[in-house]
Amino acid sequence: MVTLNLISYFTKMFLKFTGIKYGIMTALGRDAIFFAIASLNLKKDAEIMIPAFSSKHVLEPILYFKLKPILIDIDPETLNINPDLIEEKITNKTKVIIAHHTYGFPLNVKKIRKICDDNNIIFIEDCAQALGCQIDNNMAGKYGDISVFSLTKNMVNFEGGMICTDNEHMFRKIVQYINDYYCQLKHNSLKKVIYMRFKKIRASLYSAYGYRNNFIEKVIKKYKKYKKNSLKPYNPIFRPTWFSALISIIQLTKLMQLNIKRIKNARMFNDILKNINGVRCPGILENDIFGSPLYLPFFCDNYEIKKRIKSRFDRFKMNLLIEPWKAVSMMPQFKKQRCPRAENVSKSILILPNSPRFNKRYLIKIATIIRESINAKA
Ligand SMILES: Cc1ncc(COP(=O)(O)O)c(C=O)c1O
Repeated sequence: MVTLNLISYFTKMFLKFTGIKYGIMTALGRDAIFFAIASLNLKKDAEIMIPAFSSKHVLEPILYFKLKPILIDIDPETLNINPDLIEEKITNKTKVIIAHHTYGFPLNVKKIRKICDDNNIIFIEDCAQALGCQIDNNMAGKYGDISVFSLTKNMVNFEGGMICTDNEHMFRKIVQYINDYYCQLKHNSLKKVIYMRFKKIRASLYSAYGYRNNFIEKVIKKYKKYKKNSLKPYNPIFRPTWFSALISIIQLTKLMQLNIKRIKNARMFNDILKNINGVRCPGILENDIFGSPLYLPFFCDNYEIKKRIKSRFDRFKMNLLIEPWKAVSMMPQFKKQRCPRAENVSKSILILPNSPRFNKRYLIKIATIIRESINAKA
């Protein structure tokens, strides 16, 4: 009873916040993607477009349904899917576009919305990293036919996702599928539960505080079954919990303050890095609006210098840098779909967390490490 009350209280609060009509909570953001795809009942040969620079959590639910991912190259200055490259790849099998606001940098949602309307394609707006990101007075999530969110990135929480839509018919289908699915959910092995939970705790601590804990790292390493960057079809294994709903209720009230702090940090970081030759921030940070920047990405085109930056962060025990996504087109099974911009980005990008706790002094300290690595003799 408590579970249902807290989850439905949070759901109402979330819908009011995002301005979307209908929604249902899931255990994770990737579960929301899974249910969004499932509810569309697509034929096996249907094509789903995704950005070539993307999380494997976007790709793996697609693989579960044996659908065909079509990779679209990105705009390296926004790190988002490039809408100008979508239309040339549309075929009569294209049914869905999943596009995300990468690292909380706003996507050109209007252009994608128009392409989808003109071509009768479903737009799944992935706002996993963009909770609270505003676009033209709307919250991110308002432009997709279905929108999915993660509650563990912009907010401090260890699990939680949302799947939302303004379309009542679509919503009914989603709820029906989710209810049937959860009824058939089996118990998980303890190892799997520990692994998943610890991974989420690690991600939350990292994006909220820029903090890594050795014990958590060890547990994850111990229970890890799959190799880095390996892909496996994904299906949800948990139901959402009352505990996660409770944390989300508290966190949602603080979200906008956290995002404002993140925007301030991103602006400062960009200004500081402008004075360092050899590295630069993506162009989007030059604009006035940059959503809910979850991370502080920057580029370094020189491989040797990039290596030095990484090792200098390690030496100063600032275990801060996060492993960037590998462009999907660099994975063996997708090598035929070349996407040079996404590949260049994943080779040259370095990513720092953007904790609301960071201040100017700390960002200058980070910049000093970067500058010293560049100036150091090879
Ligand atoms: C773009 C994107 N979509 C979806 C997800 C999945 O969210 P969650 O970690 O809550 O499952 C992620 C996670 O990294 C992501 O980056």
